[in-house]
Amino acid sequence: MVQLNKLKNFWKGKKVLITGHTGFKGSWLIIILNLLGAKIYGYSLKPKKISLFNQINGLDLVEKNFYYDINNFKKFKSKINQVKPSIIFHLAAQPLVIESYKNTLETFKTNIIGTGNLLEIIKKTKSVKSAILVTTDKVYKIKKNKNFFTELDELGGDDPYSASKASSEIIINSYIKSFYKNNHLKNKVATVRSGNVIGGGDYSKHRLVPDIINSINKKNRLIVRNPNSIRPWQHVIEPLIGYIILAQKQSIKNINSYPCWNFGPNSKNFLKVSHFLKVVNKYEKVNFKVLKKNPYLETRTLKLSNKKSKKKLGWEPVWDINNIIEKVLEWNKLKKQKFNIRKICEIQVRKYFESI
Ligand SMILES: NC(=O)c1ccc[n+]([C@@H]2O[C@H](COP(=O)([O-])OP(=O)(O)OC[C@H]3O[C@@H](n4cnc5c(N)ncnc54)[C@H](O)[C@@H]3O)[C@@H](O)[C@H]2O)c1
Repeated sequence: MVQLNKLKNFWKGKKVLITGHTGFKGSWLIIILNLLGAKIYGYSLKPKKISLFNQINGLDLVEKNFYYDINNFKKFKSKINQVKPSIIFHLAAQPLVIESYKNTLETFKTNIIGTGNLLEIIKKTKSVKSAILVTTDKVYKIKKNKNFFTELDELGGDDPYSASKASSEIIINSYIKSFYKNNHLKNKVATVRSGNVIGGGDYSKHRLVPDIINSINKKNRLIVRNPNSIRPWQHVIEPLIGYIILAQKQSIKNINSYPCWNFGPNSKNFLKVSHFLKVVNKYEKVNFKVLKKNPYLETRTLKLSNKKSKKKLGWEPVWDINNIIEKVLEWNKLKKQKFNIRKICEIQVRKYFESI
């Protein structure tokens, strides 16, 4: 079990580069790392106008902010060389399945080549003591009668987003095996796969929770694409704490293990979309309609084993489905009451640490 103060001892003053810091998960990550006292550097595209990053005044939380493309190798390299980070969290990506059907090559470029650029640059960046590369639960090959995945399961990816992330895992593995086994990055680079993360401040299109919040706030009818899909639901804070613990452990010792980690919730949080909606309805009425036919292929069942992360890192998911839904609805309510949004996030992070 981790404590805020213990983490602070390590993170205070550490130079941390986050790619994708202007996104949903990136914004929560800078909130947490700021509470831990890290020096944060961000490399991303500009935030969207309505974004958590703008709402928390993210610019005030970073030492330096770089708005560039990870596909721009020269710029990416020069900024990493300028910062000389000790720890890197790579979150920059095109993260949406439906968007990947519309902008397929862009998705492949950013998620595969962009990640390749980072791997190539850090090959010679001696300051790096730990790099955490964020992929997804969707990297696994879906087979009949198999829907529970451990880290060593086969990679796949039928839709373009899943394929892009599975491909990035393959090239990360190839860099680890081909280039990092005898240099400063030996046992220092890992991939992390979380579940369906939810939390306040996600404004992405075609994601269930942002759509639910929109429907509550605007009193619209919610359209549900896949009521029978099972997802590993978790609050965004939970896997982020997992990434932080892994980055810390990896930087101070050689973790003797294969370099991929699942940070999914406990099995009681594997729920059908329809069940998830029932729980939301206990707190707030949501008026919804199920789409007759989903035009997009989306994985129906995803369950992640989190045994390895629990055993080797002492990380533990703590919030059940009621807790996480309460937190998202509470965030939305306080925002509507014009509370300071950064404060709302910080209070929820502190509550998380109190519950472990
Ligand atoms: N949100 C989830 O449920 C979830 C689940 C599993 C994995 N992930 C992964 O977590 C990461 C973050 O996801 P998110 O939900 O915060 O997404 P997001 O869309 O909110 O943020 C994406 C971030 O990447 C940056 N970015 C995108 N393209 C870029 C480019 N070409 N160059 C530089 N920066 C670029 C954006 O500026 C933004 O900061 C992604 O890698 C995603 O695949 C997310």
